[in-house]
Amino acid sequence: MKALVTLSLAALASLGAAVVFAWALHRPAFAAAAPQGSSELGRATYLSHCEPCHGVNGDGHGPASVGMRPFPRDFTRGEFKFTRTGYGTLPSDAALRHTIRDGLNGTPMQGWALSEEELVAVIAYLKTLSVRWKEEEVPAELEVDPDPWTGRVTEAVAEGKGLYHRVGCASCHPSYEPYSLERVALKDDTWGDKVLPISFTVHRLKSGETREDVYRVIASGVSGAAMPGWKGMLPEDQLWALAYYVESLARGPRRPAVQP
Ligand code: HEC
Ligand code: HEC
Repeated sequence: MKALVTLSLAALASLGAAVVFAWALHRPAFAAAAPQGSSELGRATYLSHCEPCHGVNGDGHGPASVGMRPFPRDFTRGEFKFTRTGYGTLPSDAALRHTIRDGLNGTPMQGWALSEEELVAVIAYLKTLSVRWKEEEVPAELEVDPDPWTGRVTEAVAEGKGLYHRVGCASCHPSYEPYSLERVALKDDTWGDKVLPISFTVHRLKSGETREDVYRVIASGVSGAAMPGWKGMLPEDQLWALAYYVESLARGPRRPAVQP
């Protein structure tokens, strides 16, 4: 009898070990499961397309990020350049969709042809990578007031050109009137990198090159990258005039790049 009890205890023990073993085998799957608020599709999309640069934890240190400038964004900080909501605030979903679909021109961040489901899922996944998304509300997008210059392109460009050189754009970006790189200097960004106030006749506009894209980025600024947001600082007709002028530079003759 005693032998039998010992035997069944041993059997129980080995059964226990088997259960622990099986659980241990299963555990990594639990640990790696999609975080709350996201889906398996979001995690899988991130791991297959974004992880090589943005890193498995979203800290921007993926295997392909070595030597990459600008650094891939560190999602754990929850700070974004192109928000559409204002300087320093969390970006709207539309801003993230635009970045992910169209990419950031002239940087290693290319546009991704994701399905609608993948896009929605990967955005939800990004939002699990920083506590900022839990702690703060995403403000409403800055309104895009109707363009007051429709049909008056030449007038708008002339007004924008005057403003550009009067309100201080040319204190960071090149002056085009006359052409000078005198004050162009690299600026510090919030991620410990340097960033160049671009020349509109040399570099691409990262967040898009339609007139509305240009309006939005002038209005919201480039957060964390020394480019202030101008909504509320200048009247709407002036914001639009600046967008017309920058657009005309971007579409005009290209100059060879000169480093400041
Ligand atoms: C080849 C490297 C690379 C891959 C792959 C990549 N990115 Fe990026 N990403 C970058 C770099 C570099 C930047 C920073 C560009 C800058 O600051 O000008 C960036 C920036 C971003 C930003 C920040 C935009 C902002 O407003 O600050 C988002 C969002 C983003 N990437 C999403 C994604 C998603 C989602 C994927 C996968 C579908 C992805 N990226 C794949 C390199 C990459
Ligand atoms: C304090 C310096 C500073 C001032 C003043 C400034 N900018 Fe910028 N701007 C920058 C920097 C730096 C960048 C590059 C950010 C980056 O690439 O991440 C930039 C980028 C831009 C871009 C490109 C955005 C994109 O999508 O790539 C536009 C357009 C722009 N600025 C327009 C203006 C206009 C118009 C004014 C004046 C109303 C102005 N800036 C004033 C520093 C400045």
